[in-house]
Amino acid sequence: MIAPSILSADFARLGDEIRAVAGEGETRADWVHVDVMDAHFVPNLTLGLPVVQSLLKATDVPIDCHLMIENPDKWAIGYAEAGAYNVTVHVEAAHDPIALAKNLRAAGAKAGLSIKPNTPIEDHLETLKHYDTLLVMSVEPGFGGQSFIEGVLDKVRTARRLVDTGHLKLVVEIDGGINADTIEQAAEAGVDCFVAGSAVYGAEDPGKAVAALREQAAR
Ligand code: DX5
Ligand code: ZN
Repeated sequence: MIAPSILSADFARLGDEIRAVAGEGETRADWVHVDVMDAHFVPNLTLGLPVVQSLLKATDVPIDCHLMIENPDKWAIGYAEAGAYNVTVHVEAAHDPIALAKNLRAAGAKAGLSIKPNTPIEDHLETLKHYDTLLVMSVEPGFGGQSFIEGVLDKVRTARRLVDTGHLKLVVEIDGGINADTIEQAAEAGVDCFVAGSAVYGAEDPGKAVAALREQAAR
C-alpha cells in the first residue's frame, strides 16, 4: 500500500492535492497520510481536527492520521469519531496506550501505534496486541524530506516475523525518507504500507509517483 503524506503538499490547495492521488487504478493512493503536529511532541506545527474533518468530506480515500502530539489519550479520539480510517499515536507520548487503542476501535477506527527511530519494539509487544497498525518511523518525526534511517529495518523485520507467525496482527507501515532509492529495501524487510511525502508531492505528477512507488515495492 502507498500512503502519500500531505505534509509535502500545497496547504492552500489540499483538496486538489488529495484529488491528484485519488483517481482510478494504479495512480490511486491506498491511504492519505495526514501528519498532525503540536509543536510540543515534535518541534513543528501543522494542522488539527478541523482540517481533518474537512479533508474527510473532500475524499473517499481512507485517511491515515499520524498524531505527533502530547497527550494523545485525550485528543486522538476526536479523529476517530470524525471518521479517520486509521488513527496512529506515539508510544512515547501515550499514557495508557492499551486503553487508547480500545477507545479508538470503539469509535470505529483502526488503532495505530508509532515508534520513533530510537524506540525499541521489544518493549511494546504486549501493547501491540491491541493495535491494528504499527508505524515504524524511519526519520525523527517532525519534518518531511529527511534521509531514511536504514537501521530501523531490523524493527520491521521483527514485526514482520511476529505477524507472519501469528503472534501479532498488524499492518506494518513505515514513514520517513521513502523514495525510489529506499522503498525496495523497506519492502524486502516486510513493510505493508509505505508513507511518502516529498517523493509523491515533490514529483511533477503525484499520481504517477504513487504508481511508480507501488510498482517498485512489488518487485
Ligand atoms: C515526518 C512525517 C512524515 C513525512 C514524511 O515526521 O511523519 O509523514 O511527511 O516525509 P518524507 O516522505 O518526505 O520523508
Ligand atoms: Zn507521518
